[in-house]
Amino acid sequence: MSDKPVIAVLVSGSGSNLQAIIDASERGEIPCRVGLVISNKTDAYGLVRAKKHGIPTEVVSHKDFSGREEFDARLVEILRKSGAELICLAGFMRVLTPVFVRAFPNRIINIHPALLPSFPGTHGPRQALDYGVRFSGCTVHFLDEGVDTGPVIVQGVVPVYCDDTEDTLAARILVQEHRIYPMAIRLFFQGRLRIDGRRVMVDGLPRIPEFFHRNPDA
Ligand code: GRF
Repeated sequence: MSDKPVIAVLVSGSGSNLQAIIDASERGEIPCRVGLVISNKTDAYGLVRAKKHGIPTEVVSHKDFSGREEFDARLVEILRKSGAELICLAGFMRVLTPVFVRAFPNRIINIHPALLPSFPGTHGPRQALDYGVRFSGCTVHFLDEGVDTGPVIVQGVVPVYCDDTEDTLAARILVQEHRIYPMAIRLFFQGRLRIDGRRVMVDGLPRIPEFFHRNPDA
């Protein structure tokens, strides 16, 4: 067993972000390994993905608990035992209470399919389409006690086209999610992230070339 630091990933569904993280770990692109995958749903495909890579899994159904705090307390108990140094929410469709958030200060990150603070909550791609924005994207952020309100670590941008459906936009965003989630994890374990109020300062961040995108580019 490798002595790399352990991360835990929480999923509720397909787990394609989990897969991107596992792949990045196996390729040595992030200096940690996925030591535990937790799902609140027994049929989450993310559990199958984990098992294919020999990663231990736990199912904790929120339906077995009398309230959100009780559910969160059980998650905290399991995660503490796992020794995970970072907890990654990857399509985990439960709102977590302060019981969870306060147990792991600045050690929980989430991915959201929109450019926060635009379009928090569910159906980010649909909200972006309905609003009519020309660009959307995805955000990896630290978890705080709000819904999708924590300090932003990385964002990726995609264009929104007039003929997009919720599915085509979500698929375009997902491609970027798979790139920025491992990137955020790498920066975390390289010790390059420092939270300063709302802002996450990234140590040694190279400037990206000046760019100008417009959409439509008519
Ligand atoms: C992603 O769009 C993620 O941003 C959102 O839920 C979706 C999960 O996809 N929170 P997957 O389970 O990682 O494939």
